[in-house]
Amino acid sequence: MTSEANNILWQSLSVTKSARAAQKGQAAKCIWFTGLSGAGKTTIANLLDKKLHSRGMHTYILDGDNVRHGLNRDLGFTDIDRIENIRRVAEVAKLMVDAGLIVLVSFISPFRVERLMARNLFEVGEFVEVYVATPLEECEKRDVKGLYAKARRGDLKNFTGLDSPYEEPQAAEIVLHTQAESSDVCVDRVLQVLA
Ligand SMILES: Nc1ncnc2c1ncn2[C@@H]1O[C@H](COP(=O)(O)OP(=O)(O)OP(=O)(O)O)[C@@H](O)[C@H]1O
Ligand SMILES: [Mg+2]
Repeated sequence: MTSEANNILWQSLSVTKSARAAQKGQAAKCIWFTGLSGAGKTTIANLLDKKLHSRGMHTYILDGDNVRHGLNRDLGFTDIDRIENIRRVAEVAKLMVDAGLIVLVSFISPFRVERLMARNLFEVGEFVEVYVATPLEECEKRDVKGLYAKARRGDLKNFTGLDSPYEEPQAAEIVLHTQAESSDVCVDRVLQVLA
């Protein structure tokens, strides 16, 4: 910590997280989707968001691709940058939960320790880890963005699942198998846990 940071004190503010959430008639949550590229994180988070929104819930999606266009556009895909990518989005998600929102985070978030770091920012029960457990072979077959082909050709370095690791969650609250369950079924499984 720099000496400047040592001089910054935490300011107590009057409107609390629970007051903000209560005003919205909901419990604030961070629903954290992790899994390989093409696993189905964005598809499922987007569908869940639509359902929650139509029920009058106050939500927001933090999607890896979109956040990398703005807040994290200075970051690449080295291990150090991936860690900073997750640290920033976790802090943003925490602010949104503090604002009383239900935040859906859709990031590959390949490293276990970073996901734990994110979890530890939240109160017990606030953080719901959803492992979209689509196997590499299936993700590569889908190759929605053509990135697996590009990485296999050697035109893309540090690609998760190929030359950059993905550490499977060991204790995710929810594990979704997108080969066996439709995206609607996956969304309903998440909704059951939130109810
Ligand atoms: N049960 C399912 N749930 C979600 N997606 C599915 C399912 N079955 C097939 N798919 C397909 O898998 C693909 C998942 O792509 P998606 O962009 O959601 O992945 P992602 O995990 O967000 O990847 P990335 O990390 O690259 O953003 C979509 O084409 C989707 O239609
Ligand atoms: Mg996505």
